[in-house]
Amino acid sequence: MPVAASTAPAPREDEPDFDQARILAEYRTIRNDTESLCQPLAIEDYGIQSMPDVSPPKWHLAHTTWFFETFLLMPFLPEYRVFHPQFGYLFNSYYETVGSFFPRAQRGLLSRPTVGEVYRYRQYVDRAMEALIATLHQPDTTLSRIKLGLNHEQQHQELLLTDIKYNFALNPLRPVYLQRTEPRCCRPSTLKWLDYPAGVRAIGHQTKGFAFDNETPRHAVYLGACRLASRLVSNGEFLEFVEAGGYRRAEHWLSDGWAAGRQKGWQAPLYWENIDGAWWLMTLAGLRRLDEHEPVCHVSFYEADAYARWRGKRLPSEAEWEVAAESQPVEGNLRNAGYLHPVATQGKQTIEQLYGDVWEWTQSPYRPYPGFRALQGPLGEYNGKFMCNQIVLRGGSCVTPKDHIRPTYRNFFYPADRWQFSGIRLADDGQN
Ligand SMILES: [Fe+2]
Repeated sequence: MPVAASTAPAPREDEPDFDQARILAEYRTIRNDTESLCQPLAIEDYGIQSMPDVSPPKWHLAHTTWFFETFLLMPFLPEYRVFHPQFGYLFNSYYETVGSFFPRAQRGLLSRPTVGEVYRYRQYVDRAMEALIATLHQPDTTLSRIKLGLNHEQQHQELLLTDIKYNFALNPLRPVYLQRTEPRCCRPSTLKWLDYPAGVRAIGHQTKGFAFDNETPRHAVYLGACRLASRLVSNGEFLEFVEAGGYRRAEHWLSDGWAAGRQKGWQAPLYWENIDGAWWLMTLAGLRRLDEHEPVCHVSFYEADAYARWRGKRLPSEAEWEVAAESQPVEGNLRNAGYLHPVATQGKQTIEQLYGDVWEWTQSPYRPYPGFRALQGPLGEYNGKFMCNQIVLRGGSCVTPKDHIRPTYRNFFYPADRWQFSGIRLADDGQN
């Protein structure tokens, strides 16, 4: 995803139930989902790139298609002919070993191919992919790559929404992507502190099913006793930090964070606007008054860390988060709930909002697990080369597909990034 959330899969050829019809259905469903997310767009919306980290919707549609063309059809479908000889240059994201690519920050300058041509490219590749899937008879490298391509497409589905939101927020007309009807009146549940004892734990993926390679290998970690907050930090709680001058007091901030905040002029989370003394918030449903009960969202790691220090707390490590999450059902306000916005917790579970709502910043640098090995060949670039200078986030967000998240999933962004749906869960040291 990123550069936005790039992650790569563990090569797995251990699927016990090979079902060609199910694979084809999954392929069609996920490819159709991407196009469904573009249904609310006007034709002019498809080409906008409002900052280098944001890609135009048209580019996401084409790049995900290029991925299947490059890593599945060209190597595995003998009679396949590429749709256009220059699309590899235009829609390769960052695979240096595949070839050169168009500058990322200039993707919004491409009026051609047209949106119609990009949709025809998708249809052309989809027909060929269906022919390729028809040749599968057992789990093999081709199937593993198809699963990677589908998970890659789901990552770009999330990016489509985050990028559309950023583009729309810069437009003074404050366009509405989609009206929604999520609950707004409830107060967040009382925050409780949940104890986790010290001990040796195991983290990382080892069960059957798809996983990116950055989730492996499963390994032991020693954790001191800790406590995790039972829910996310709310807008109202974060507003206390804003009103207490938190953005103007260097003592709460990491040095790099303080410099970033000064340089970028941060005074509140991204998408907060103070209009005549009242706080408003840009959402995918347009501009609206800030709801103090909702989880705070669109904060950088630096802001999350400063807030935690101001409260006398800290962020959880990714291992602490995973140990807490692995026994919990993968349920929550994910994209399938339809809100596309974080919502206040109802207080029905012991530990809440682990999945969905917002990606939770951890204090953990994005590094390889002990024994990590990148994939062979160009797909080795998918993930391993980003394991420096970024921070791990966990749990998925309100724009993450429900079948795309799991306890071991590691997302990662640079510490100053805040256009993703990123928020805060507090932690502290427990009694050893
Ligand atoms: Fe990608």
